[in-house]
Amino acid sequence: MKNIVILISGGGSNMAAIVHAAQRDHWERVHGARVAAVVSNKPDAGGLALAREQGIATEVVEHKRFASREAFDEALAAAIERHQPALVVLAGFMRILTPGFVTRYQGRLLNIHPSLLPAFPGLHTHQRALDAGCRFAGVTVHQVTAELDYGPILAQAVVPVLPEDTAAALAGRVLTQEHLIYPRAIAQLLPGLQDN
Ligand code: GAR
Repeated sequence: MKNIVILISGGGSNMAAIVHAAQRDHWERVHGARVAAVVSNKPDAGGLALAREQGIATEVVEHKRFASREAFDEALAAAIERHQPALVVLAGFMRILTPGFVTRYQGRLLNIHPSLLPAFPGLHTHQRALDAGCRFAGVTVHQVTAELDYGPILAQAVVPVLPEDTAAALAGRVLTQEHLIYPRAIAQLLPGLQDN
């Protein structure tokens, strides 16, 4: 079985979209793949309840309990390893990962970022796109490398920036696209993944 482990920090709507696509498109039968676990660095992340409702194993590794990024990433990797991942998917996971962690999962670690990378890495992407006068915004799915919000691009979607847009309105328009392209990008990778 090719186990997918999804890391979240918040509402988990991308995670839910991936779980939904896995069910709808029969990833287990077609690709021998399943969402094996959802891991959060926040105990109150809304996505945890969603995952539990779907019968998916959940883990919480609270970053606040660790003195350093390295110690947190060690505990995070231990939680992930319990589910023998073929693919680790960051879905609104809002922690910067150490080079050691990234190297460990190199080639099987994905992220979704709500901008058209390489534009606007980091936080507040939608407000920054508005402030820059962008006519288009969007979202990027990419392989994770040691550099923040960088790495080979797997998929992008573009949305228009509308007159009178607010960051929240733009975020909602982008999020709708996130839910389409993330499951699709993952599905394209599944045939090439190693079985555990
Ligand atoms: C999404 O918009 C995702 O692209 C973004 O956080 C949101 C999480 O929503 N990720 C980042 O900003 C990563 N730097 P979700 O929890 O509903 O999937």
